Amino acid sequence: MKGLLGAAGAVALVLSVAMPVSAQAGEKAMGNIAHGRAIFQNGKGDDVPACAGCHGVDGLGSDDMGTPRLAYQVDTYILKQLEDFASGKRTDNTMFQMNDIAKGLTPSDRRDLAAYVHSLKTPFMGSNLDELRANDVAVGEPYKGEALVNFGDVSRGISACKSCHSFNGRSAGRMYPAIGGQRYVYLKHELEAWREGATGSREDSARYNDVRAQMRKVAAHLTDDDIINVAAYLTGAKPVNPANPREPKRM
Ligand code: HEC
Ligand code: HEC
Repeated sequence: MKGLLGAAGAVALVLSVAMPVSAQAGEKAMGNIAHGRAIFQNGKGDDVPACAGCHGVDGLGSDDMGTPRLAYQVDTYILKQLEDFASGKRTDNTMFQMNDIAKGLTPSDRRDLAAYVHSLKTPFMGSNLDELRANDVAVGEPYKGEALVNFGDVSRGISACKSCHSFNGRSAGRMYPAIGGQRYVYLKHELEAWREGATGSREDSARYNDVRAQMRKVAAHLTDDDIINVAAYLTGAKPVNPANPREPKRM
C-alpha cells in the first residue's frame, strides 16, 4: 500500500494537464478512457484477464456468472471497489477472482478502467425475472420492493434506499452507487453479503467495506423476502421516468 497515494497524486497531476472528456457533456473523465478500454476488452499481461470475459463486452454483467453491470456506474465508486479488492477490504466470494485481478492493476490502471466503464452509456432494461424463475432462482415481488426503496420501514429500522441511492436507485454520485438497473443475481448476493457483514466478523465477511457501516446498518434488518423483493424491483427500475425526468448530474 505504501507509495500508492504518491503514485495516485502524480497521476492526478498528469491527468489535470491532458484530461479526456467523457460522453457526458461537461464532465471530466477521471482517467484515460482509451487505455481503460484496452484493458477491459483485452486484459493486461499474464495476470489480468479481459474484464469483458466476465462483465460482458458491453459491461452489462451476467446473471449466470453473478457478475455486476459496470457500464454507467459512478467512476469514484468503481475506483473505490477496485482499491478495496486490491487491499483485501472487500472479498470476491462469487468467483474468487477480483482480488487478484485488482492487485494486478496499477493505481492509474484502476482510474482508467473506472473512467472507461463510467463512459459506457449502454442501455439496460434489467435482468429477465421470468427466465430466472424458470431456472429456479428465488425471485421476489417488485411492488413490495418498490415500497422499501421509496419509504423504507421505520418500524424495523430500515431507511429508504432512495435517501442515499436517489430516485429509483439511480445513484446520488460519488460513493453512492447506482443500484437501479443492476443485475438481479448480483444485487441479491451483495445484500446478503452486507447483512453477513453486519452480524459477522471482519475476516469472514465479503462486504465490510462501507464507510461508517452505512450499508450494513440497513442490511442488518432486511429479511430474505425483503432482499429478493428490493432486488426484483431495482433491477428493472429506470433512472428517469415521466414523473421524474431530470437527468441526474453524475450517475
Ligand atoms: C473471472 C471473472 C471476472 C473477471 C475476469 C473480472 N471480474 Fe470483476 N467481478 C467478478 C465478480 C464475480 C464480481 C462480484 C464479486 C462479489 O461481490 O462477490 C466482480 C465485481 C467487480 C466490481 C465491483 C462492482 C460493484 O458494483 O461493486 C468491479 C468494479 C469489477 N468487478 C471490475 C472488474 C475489472 C475492471 C475487471 C478487469 C480488469 C474485472 N472486473 C474482471 C468477476 C470478474
Ligand atoms: C445511509 C445511506 C444508505 C442507505 C439508506 C442505503 N444504502 Fe446502499 N449503499 C450505501 C453506500 C455508501 C454504498 C457503497 C459502499 C461501498 O463503499 O462499497 C452502498 C452500496 C449498496 C449496494 C452495493 C452496490 C454494488 O454495486 O455493489 C447495494 C446493492 C445497496 N447499497 C443496496 C441498498 C438497498 C437495497 C437499500 C435500501 C434497502 C440501501 N442500499 C440503502 C449507502 C446506503
